[in-house]
Amino acid sequence: MNGALTLGIDFGTSNSAAALMDANGVLQVIPLDGTRAEMPTAVFFNSETHGVLFGSEAMQAYLAGTEGRLLRSLKSLLGSSLMDEHTAVGDHSLRYFDIVVLFFKELKRRCEAHADVPLTSAMLGRPVHFVDDHPERDALAQATLGRAAMEAGFTHIAYQLEPIAAALDYEQRVAQESAVLVVDIGGGTSDFTAIRLNPARSKEADRSNDILATTGVHIGGTDFDRLLDLSTVMPSLGYKHIGKGNRPVPNSVFFDLSTWHLIHQAYTRKAMHFAKELWTDFSDPSLHARLMEALVGQYGHRMLAEVEAAKIACSISGQNAAVHLEFLRGMAAPEVTADAMALALQDAVSQVVRCAQDCVAASGLPAVDVVYLTGGSSALAPLVAALQAAMPQATLVTGNRFGGVAAGLAYAGSCAGHLLHD
Ligand SMILES: Nc1ncnc2c1ncn2[C@@H]1O[C@H](COP(=O)(O)OP(=O)(O)OP(=O)(O)O)[C@@H](O)[C@H]1O
Ligand SMILES: [Mg+2]
Repeated sequence: MNGALTLGIDFGTSNSAAALMDANGVLQVIPLDGTRAEMPTAVFFNSETHGVLFGSEAMQAYLAGTEGRLLRSLKSLLGSSLMDEHTAVGDHSLRYFDIVVLFFKELKRRCEAHADVPLTSAMLGRPVHFVDDHPERDALAQATLGRAAMEAGFTHIAYQLEPIAAALDYEQRVAQESAVLVVDIGGGTSDFTAIRLNPARSKEADRSNDILATTGVHIGGTDFDRLLDLSTVMPSLGYKHIGKGNRPVPNSVFFDLSTWHLIHQAYTRKAMHFAKELWTDFSDPSLHARLMEALVGQYGHRMLAEVEAAKIACSISGQNAAVHLEFLRGMAAPEVTADAMALALQDAVSQVVRCAQDCVAASGLPAVDVVYLTGGSSALAPLVAALQAAMPQATLVTGNRFGGVAAGLAYAGSCAGHLLHD
């Protein structure tokens, strides 16, 4: 065993990343997926070859229409009873837990291939809350994450909060003492830490005196995807359709189809039967036909991936972005506009900003000097605008959006060496 190397693992809802601090104190974010630091947290079971693909290869195979089963947002299942349930993958079935283990094994393999040594110690990141307002399930989620890492071959593990890891990474760039609100908005959660940063203290293992407050809410990019899918695409499949008898069509199928980790529930035999029988509720049969086409063709992930791509394009450019759904017959490409996106995400964005303000309030500081943005969704235009409006006196600093947490975890791991090594 090589006790000197500490791997930081950021197992993310959408993307995972890893970084390594070597014995000389040199930190490197590992190119986990080709040349990229972020590896989509995705597993694809190919029904044609019976092979298993991970990361962007999994996404590409799935989006190219290869027969098989895609799993994404596995982190959202940690702490739920689904973890121990079996799910069909090709001609056999696996527990969701075993699929997380497979993902960790692959991540470990890629890190070892890069480092060219076996790696058995890992500092695992965890959000402030895996599950909101449910301490038992939250503790279970962390324990399950650790168990999966151990089963994948890690022998020494410890945990650090993701936003604290992000703060430690940012601290390497800070020249003087400053009060910082670290904002990590990822795929599944938004986490905040109010922290005093000072490079002179960055090697100290225990920084609890500098951590003034942490808050977190279970809202992230996958929720933004769901809200946008529901507002721009699902109405064309019957969501909010007022059908026969002046009643709205039951909506659970649309929620399943627009929630990354629930999409497969819409394809079970029972759910398909239920959806088929819904035809009596529709006054416009073409909407029901399109819903059934999406279900029978298992297009849920593909549709949501197109919504996500339009969200990102519109957020970056501020211009309208088309959601390409031409694979559904007779479906025009709906457009995501900046205004429509701001409106659809308004409530969720407000909740995230409120959680940021709660963190500053709990810190006891009148204000912070810097708001440090990390995580993919921290680039979401309406969110950045709302944060700046809520904290006008702070300077917004954009960090390493995809590798920063992993880097901070490797850093934390090296400071907590005694916990991680024999
Ligand atoms: N430019 C952008 N604008 C808005 N959202 C973006 C942008 N780029 C990426 N995203 C979103 O960022 C999310 C992924 O971010 P990230 O990789 O930080 O999440 P994660 O670490 O996997 O999630 P978590 O930390 O919540 O477990 C996705 O929902 C993606 O759609
Ligand atoms: Mg993250």
